Amino acid sequence: MSTAKSSYAVPQWWKEAVIYQVYPSSFQSHPGATSGWGSIKDLTSRLDYLKSLGIDIVWSSPICKSPQADMGYDIADYKQIDPQKRDMKLMVDLVVNHTSNEHPWFLDSRSSRDNSKRDWYVWKKPKSVGADGTPEPPSNWARILGEANSAWNYDETTGEYYLGLFTAEQPDLNWENPVVRTTIWDVMHFWMQRGAAGFRMDVINLISKVPGYPDADIVLGRGHKYQPGLKYFVNGPRLHEYLQEMHREVLSNVGANAGELRMIFIFDVVDIDKPNVRMALKPWDVKEMKSIITHWQRVMIENDGWNSIFIENHDNPRSVTRYADDSDQWRATGAKLLALMQTTLGGTLFVFQGEEIGMRNAPTSWPIEEFEDIESINYWKKCLDLYSEDKEQLAYGRKIIDMKARDHSRTPMQWSPKENAGFCDPNVKPWMRVIDDYKTVNVEAQMTANDPTNLSVWQFWQRALRDRKERAEVFVYGDFDELDPADPKIYAYTRTSESGEKWLVVLNFSGEEIQWTMPSGIEVEFWPCSNYTKQHVEKPKKSTIPLRPWEGILGKCK
Ligand code: GLC
Repeated sequence: MSTAKSSYAVPQWWKEAVIYQVYPSSFQSHPGATSGWGSIKDLTSRLDYLKSLGIDIVWSSPICKSPQADMGYDIADYKQIDPQKRDMKLMVDLVVNHTSNEHPWFLDSRSSRDNSKRDWYVWKKPKSVGADGTPEPPSNWARILGEANSAWNYDETTGEYYLGLFTAEQPDLNWENPVVRTTIWDVMHFWMQRGAAGFRMDVINLISKVPGYPDADIVLGRGHKYQPGLKYFVNGPRLHEYLQEMHREVLSNVGANAGELRMIFIFDVVDIDKPNVRMALKPWDVKEMKSIITHWQRVMIENDGWNSIFIENHDNPRSVTRYADDSDQWRATGAKLLALMQTTLGGTLFVFQGEEIGMRNAPTSWPIEEFEDIESINYWKKCLDLYSEDKEQLAYGRKIIDMKARDHSRTPMQWSPKENAGFCDPNVKPWMRVIDDYKTVNVEAQMTANDPTNLSVWQFWQRALRDRKERAEVFVYGDFDELDPADPKIYAYTRTSESGEKWLVVLNFSGEEIQWTMPSGIEVEFWPCSNYTKQHVEKPKKSTIPLRPWEGILGKCK
């Protein structure tokens, strides 16, 4: 066993804090409102709810003025909304790789080649112009949210292309221009003066592009003209320089000490089923998932890093559907298993709205028209264009939507068994369909559940968050050691505080009964927590222990 370097284990409020991600349009709509959309105003009505769950910081997906081409990730005015202050902290979603195409900066920039803001965005001449006058984009890069299209968008007015890596409605800012950077620092100061406690930085690793915008390697076949250009814009050559400047100009004023950022999201677990583009599938197994989690736990400890812990957000399907079993029989057990895992890993913990009640993916029976996200829409359009004659390919495309669409995590929050799940008034049509299981899967039912033998998913999260905070020296800052990495179904690890207090976590990532043998030398004093019981659970204290399907247990070691 190796020991953690000391600064990893230095307590900081932002390491212990539990952050809850709100997706405002689907969180809570106002009583009496007829729009069917949630809003930031109504978020405040649920702050007491979040506090009772054990949340310290709210991260809201973007709340600034936006035409909503990408649900707020296309910003038209960085300073237009005021966060409502309470006794909790607010984390602002900073989306500055790109703006909306309706942002006044872009309207200026596209107006003429010699406009003073021309250079605020990435404009390039066509690579070539065909005999018939058709221009070719400067490179073969594909759009991220619709890879059938070019990331370059031709603008008739000036005969040049602008870069929009995500969609045409999200033109990339030109970070090479120092005035752009100064303007962003100003936006950040603006939000900090208004009380923002920190920033979640949207695709911040994309702000520096390789000069020359070289063509990407060809990896997508069959009818794909454009290709993922990630190696030319992810973690680009000037990224660290820009982040250091951001730190100097903005973040150092609030006491950050790392020289750049405090923590990052590692996407390896949520990208476990991603080959080269997101809307595609790659097989994976529990062993691979274990090795990814273990790898990053160790990397942070050994290199004095800090990590965020999450398996859900607004860009991914629901975790219980993806990593466990969302059938009526196992959904709650699986959701609690995932809660136990996350609340016992090192890093700052992020919970996504609805995860605390084990919300599942939209059912496969939903017609395709229910999917509202621009990525799903573009993807389905591509399937229809390329495979209209190929039933098998179309069915595969639909399967990908069922498994991976971002819509799954964006359905309205299920507050109660009332019509529309209490998200909006009963007579109002919510902007996105509510998942049909809301009568049983909802906050009200789970908060008030009174099962003498077991906790609801919500109650389990609440207790697990409290236990994590009470034993932060173990679960937030402790050392991490995996046991039995070769086991294909059981994820087992210990967390050990600097003072030597050791806890064992054993998670059965399968629907089977398993007899798992602990490595010799490990002995448990008692098992205070299981996702099958309300209190402690009776299990052997050493050697071989039986685990039920999707069972997770926590033991205090001798
Ligand atoms: C990030 C966001 C995603 C958005 C994209 C473009 O990946 O999380 O929702 O579409 O950036 O801003």
